[in-house]
Amino acid sequence: MPVDPLHQLYNNLGEQGITDIVAAFYRKVPTDDILGPMYPSDDLEKAEERLRDFLIYRLGGSQKYIQERGHPRLRMRHNPFAIDVNARHRWIELMTGAINEVGIDAKDSALMLAFFEHLATFMINQDS
Ligand code: HEM
Repeated sequence: MPVDPLHQLYNNLGEQGITDIVAAFYRKVPTDDILGPMYPSDDLEKAEERLRDFLIYRLGGSQKYIQERGHPRLRMRHNPFAIDVNARHRWIELMTGAINEVGIDAKDSALMLAFFEHLATFMINQDS
């Protein structure tokens, strides 16, 4: 059976590495001028948990996200937010900062960013 290359990220980073990256990303969100206002300030901890659980599931770990949230349907779940190319770039910028902060292997970092960049472009739902 073909192996999903993303699963190597789970093997290399483990739940702890993924948790650290998502935590570093969410530390940057509240003060960001574009993303800050989009995220629920009273529910940021839960939002952090949702992204963390999604990534753990998608990279080949625990199915907790699916059990709690069902099929990801990420584009639909992002519909309530006005995501233009600037928001997309900012999301990637904060995530790149988070990945660098945690300090992971260069190959893992390139693979993870390619995955995020592809999905983030798919999430654009507005002209700028
Ligand atoms: C393109 C720029 C993006 C913006 C502006 C954005 C913004 C948001 C916002 C405002 C939320 C609501 C927070 C919450 O209450 O959970 C959210 C949820 C979420 N985002 Fe994004 N997002 C972006 C890209 C991505 C990407 C690339 C991924 C996947 C790697 C992703 C995965 C998720 C997940 C899993 C949730 C929680 C969905 C749920 O179960 O309700 N987002 N996003």
